[in-house]
Amino acid sequence: MNIYLIGFMGSGKSYTGQQLATALDLPFVDLDERIEQAEKRSIGQIFESEGESYFRNLEAQLLRATAAEGPAVISCGGGTPCFHQNMDWINTNGLSIYLKASVQLLAKRLKKGQEHRPLIRGFNTTELEGFIAERLEQREFYYNQAEIVIVQDDNQSLVPQLLTLCENRLKI
Ligand code: S3P
Repeated sequence: MNIYLIGFMGSGKSYTGQQLATALDLPFVDLDERIEQAEKRSIGQIFESEGESYFRNLEAQLLRATAAEGPAVISCGGGTPCFHQNMDWINTNGLSIYLKASVQLLAKRLKKGQEHRPLIRGFNTTELEGFIAERLEQREFYYNQAEIVIVQDDNQSLVPQLLTLCENRLKI
């Protein structure tokens, strides 16, 4: 069974996912990277040339393709759970973990490197916080369906806590 990490952009899915995979001795998969490899172009370029709905279709397909491999730790994109019944699919096929973070913590992290993320490119701090607050409110409907919800503070490693939770659930 795969472990799926979900949460808003900047919630640390890739960073924590890699650490958790190492600790569990499992492969790590980044769904955004899978999409970029499949398309041989960046997420930004896919959004620009094909639009969001093309990206969401691809994302749903490549998410489902992960069922054929594993066990692995899989970092999803921030929007993955919110389209194409993906959250139901994740909960049927794997263990879901929501990495929850405050608007302020997400904005602080997203300020660095925001130009690589098509949805938040060019926002100043106030616009970024406003965007995150609004999106997060819509998206938490999906994120809160995760089997495990972890609330994080800045700089705190989530891995020891996650390791215990995963070992208990998966009987590793
Ligand atoms: C998105 C988040 C991104 C990426 C795409 C759309 C979103 O992933 O999938 O830019 O809708 O929140 P990360 O959360 O890994 O940045």
